Amino acid sequence: MPAEVVLIKHPLVQHKLTIMRLVETNTQDFRRLLKEISMLLAYEVTRDLPLKFESIQTPLAEMEAPMLAADKKMVIVSILRAGQGLLDGMIELIPTAKVGHIGLYREPTTLMAIEYYFKLPPDVEQRDMLVVDPMLATGNSAVAAVDRLKEANPASIKFVCLLAAPEGIEHFHEQHPDVPIFTAAIDEGLDSHGYIIPGLGDAGDRLYGTK
Ligand code: URA
Repeated sequence: MPAEVVLIKHPLVQHKLTIMRLVETNTQDFRRLLKEISMLLAYEVTRDLPLKFESIQTPLAEMEAPMLAADKKMVIVSILRAGQGLLDGMIELIPTAKVGHIGLYREPTTLMAIEYYFKLPPDVEQRDMLVVDPMLATGNSAVAAVDRLKEANPASIKFVCLLAAPEGIEHFHEQHPDVPIFTAAIDEGLDSHGYIIPGLGDAGDRLYGTK
């Protein structure tokens, strides 16, 4: 299967992302915009969900109406901590999804991902998994997260981010060519500290006002 990258070019997503990138955008606006974008990303990422038809009664007539076939069969895994910003909007749009968390931090000198937390719901084998992290930079955290999550054997995995660096996409798909990446933008590259250029800075700090 060819490694898939889906670029979400919707004008609302692109406009909101530009406002998020602005150096003067404050924490409150950054958080709100990330939540709004995450709903739009969830809309795109769930395009292929199967539907079933059920007999329903409207005030005027009976009809065969479409409903999600696997309504209760999703799990969203947030890569802590910036993943929480994408998770918030997604669970509003998909309220029946279960949620998992994986805590990874970047060791500042090697930029390698170190795991400090891992919690999944029990029935992951029957669920389609969305792994969310706003920034796909070196790809080290995303690769480490998906390595670990594949041990739980979910029905499928998609990786959802806001911004990706070409280096991160390449590294991720070398290791996980079967996992499609959904992103709102592919930026120029990485700086020497592993930050995406032009990017939007540190997503966690901008989301929580920690810097
Ligand atoms: N993580 C971030 O928050 N920002 C980057 O640019 C890269 C990784």
